[in-house]
Amino acid sequence: MANSNRPTTEIANVYRGTFIHSTQQTALQVLEDALLGVDIKGKIAFIGKGTELDTLSQTFGFSSSEVTQLAQHEFFIPGMVDTHIHAPQYSFAGTALDMPLLQWLSTYTFPVESRFQDLEFANRVYTQVVKRTLRNGTTTACYFATIHTDASLLLAQIANDFGQRSLVGKVCMDRNDSVKHYKETIQESKEETCRFIAELLNKKYPLVKPVVTPRFALSCTGALLGQLGAIAKNNNLHIQSHISENIEEVKIVKELFPESDSYTDVYHKYNLLTDKTVMAHGCHLSDEELALFKETGASLSHCPNSNISLCSGVLNVRNVLKHKVKLGLGTDVAGGYSASMLDAVRRALDSSKVLAIQNQEHETLTFEEVFRLATLGGSQALSLDDQTGNFEVGKDFDALRVNVTAPGGPIDLIQSEGPKTLLEKFLNLGDDRNILEVFVAGRKVVPFTEPTPE
Ligand code: GUN
Ligand code: FE
Repeated sequence: MANSNRPTTEIANVYRGTFIHSTQQTALQVLEDALLGVDIKGKIAFIGKGTELDTLSQTFGFSSSEVTQLAQHEFFIPGMVDTHIHAPQYSFAGTALDMPLLQWLSTYTFPVESRFQDLEFANRVYTQVVKRTLRNGTTTACYFATIHTDASLLLAQIANDFGQRSLVGKVCMDRNDSVKHYKETIQESKEETCRFIAELLNKKYPLVKPVVTPRFALSCTGALLGQLGAIAKNNNLHIQSHISENIEEVKIVKELFPESDSYTDVYHKYNLLTDKTVMAHGCHLSDEELALFKETGASLSHCPNSNISLCSGVLNVRNVLKHKVKLGLGTDVAGGYSASMLDAVRRALDSSKVLAIQNQEHETLTFEEVFRLATLGGSQALSLDDQTGNFEVGKDFDALRVNVTAPGGPIDLIQSEGPKTLLEKFLNLGDDRNILEVFVAGRKVVPFTEPTPE
């Protein structure tokens, strides 16, 4: 090939078949018989039509024999983004769902989290949660760990080993009246957060980043919140926490921070609301608070399973979208009992229908909209949409290869269906048996390659 025609990107893989994703303009774009090329850095080099094979293969310098053809009933969707999950709580996922938030925290959660200074236990649980979520199609996860720095670093290492894109947060809390040994002094919290950030950044993991993680206003003093806001600002880091999940919590935050106008104002005052902030829940936020989210660029993580399981509230997603606040979905394991984002999709649809039952004027979410929340919306909520979320050229190839009729799987097809219906069936009825392969930044991370990383 003449020098001037030499492709600037080297292609590693090319796939041909149906691709379904969301864009800013449309919740669901179906590209049938498409051709997508991934370069050696794992980025999407091109996406075109199958009929353009000859021109594309010449332009990008691959041979048509290298193209992987999807089978009938298979399609690619973008990897799903879990914007809020507690990795240590995976150890009791599916149990302990009989109490409201604050009692649930002191009875079940804090005692379990306090065990994570034991690195052997942490290694077991963290390996399981990373594998389980990857297998279920979570290519990006925003994790809370515990207050223990070394165990939190271990979670980051495990995510890196298995190739999951993630934000990992060492939890900060200098206030805990219920389980008194599970907290830090403000000095410890600040120093250990700085050590966590420095050590994690020093590892130079390509897909794993630290996130500043005050647990929530109720378990932090104002002084600590202020320190964490400053650390995030000075290092240009992501921030995550919880907000306005449960009525009792909102009431106590008002009592603890009487000088603030609202729960949102508490975080705002301490510089914790930025365009790299994601706050879980927000079930009870006022319109004024949502306006402050919009103004600061902070986002919300909608965790419907948790909101129902802990009887916390029902987020009005329509109203959040009306305020143009960035929004993703989260599993919130173990307040949410399922680690699968497919469950988050279903519970988000159910919750929107509950609102419609209560108010006939309420416009329910469509499966297309919720699919967007689980993929592109989540990437926007985590400010990672320049890297992941859909199949735009230049983004990393984070993708799920789905087969709706996978042998032994949960879905029966009675008649031949179009791709949109196949996606709807997968979202409502599918599980990990339908997810044949998972890719993160072009690398196939599921099925797991043996030997399994330590
Ligand atoms: N608020 C503060 N901590 C937690 C937690 O671990 N889970 C949930 N759902 N809410 C919280
Ligand atoms: Fe949570």
